[in-house]
Amino acid sequence: MLIKIKRSWELPDSAATDEAFFRDRRRIAKGLAAGSILAAGFGAGLTGGSRAARAADDPTADLYPVPRDEGYQVDRALSDESDVTSYNNFYEFGSHKQIAEAAQALELRPWQIRIDGLVEEEKTLDIDALIRAMPLEERVYRHRCVEAWAMTVPWTGFPFAELVKRAKPLSKAKYIRMTSLADEATMPGIRAGWYPWPYTEALTMEEATNDLAFLATGLYGKPLPKQNGAPLREVLPWKYGFKSIKSIVRFTFTEERPVGFWEEIQKSEYGFWANVNPDVAHPRWSQASERLLSTGESVPTRLFNGYGEQVAHLYKGLETEFGDRLYR
Ligand code: MTE
Repeated sequence: MLIKIKRSWELPDSAATDEAFFRDRRRIAKGLAAGSILAAGFGAGLTGGSRAARAADDPTADLYPVPRDEGYQVDRALSDESDVTSYNNFYEFGSHKQIAEAAQALELRPWQIRIDGLVEEEKTLDIDALIRAMPLEERVYRHRCVEAWAMTVPWTGFPFAELVKRAKPLSKAKYIRMTSLADEATMPGIRAGWYPWPYTEALTMEEATNDLAFLATGLYGKPLPKQNGAPLREVLPWKYGFKSIKSIVRFTFTEERPVGFWEEIQKSEYGFWANVNPDVAHPRWSQASERLLSTGESVPTRLFNGYGEQVAHLYKGLETEFGDRLYR
């Protein structure tokens, strides 16, 4: 028998702030479902997100919205969709937050995902076939950027563990390196050239197969906008946001621990683990509090961004080896 125990980060029933509104919008959008274009356009109208409407040219748009998994809720209101889609970090398009317009140059199809390294058989997957084969669900997660701003987002996607299962890694594989698209023709940041492109990030196999590790294909009940990392990005709610790599084209299974994009640039500030911790300051600023997108409110940062119950065990015993390095 399944016994559901409420976990520390779940929303009390009485506090379902934006939920009724969100559900209602979804019901109406479903009712309209003469076509995904209509549904996406309706959502865009509500949030002023003309960029979201452009996501309607995604061939998987008919899959949205999908049911929310109520097991993943947080005790915070959702951030406004218009903020989440207009305040972004995507250095391939520029090193400032207003990259949404520039990111529209990202070409989403054809898009293939390469699975290689220590796997039974290396392969290339078509993104549409992959997304359609995956058990899509919606999860509301807190997101905490290393720069001390935070947001709360309803992501659509599938557990990272599902991809790992299909990749069939060899027992020697200990890490997974993810690689973002690096296209000089459409990404002005890449042409600028002083960063170690492509953007890469990595996780241990245990982290990637943890229940919280998620690969997102959408947000707010629609396909992912380009600026948020379409067509496939990682979402790791207990780690600083730079670990949640966007627009992924490759998953490589390795025995050696890979060095990520930011770690290569500045190891002392952006380490491999990057677990959220209010008590370990970034060398240039405190991490004790965070500013919420949309409200501007400043709230205390939580260890593992409030997800300690789900992930703290992954780091047991590593404190002696890595100390503060587990957190920055
Ligand atoms: N992925 C790529 N490829 N390029 C980036 O610049 N920025 C990271 C992460 N993933 C980044 C990336 C950082 S620092 C953060 S905080 C999040 O994306 C921001 O995601 P958002 O724009 O959807 O809020």
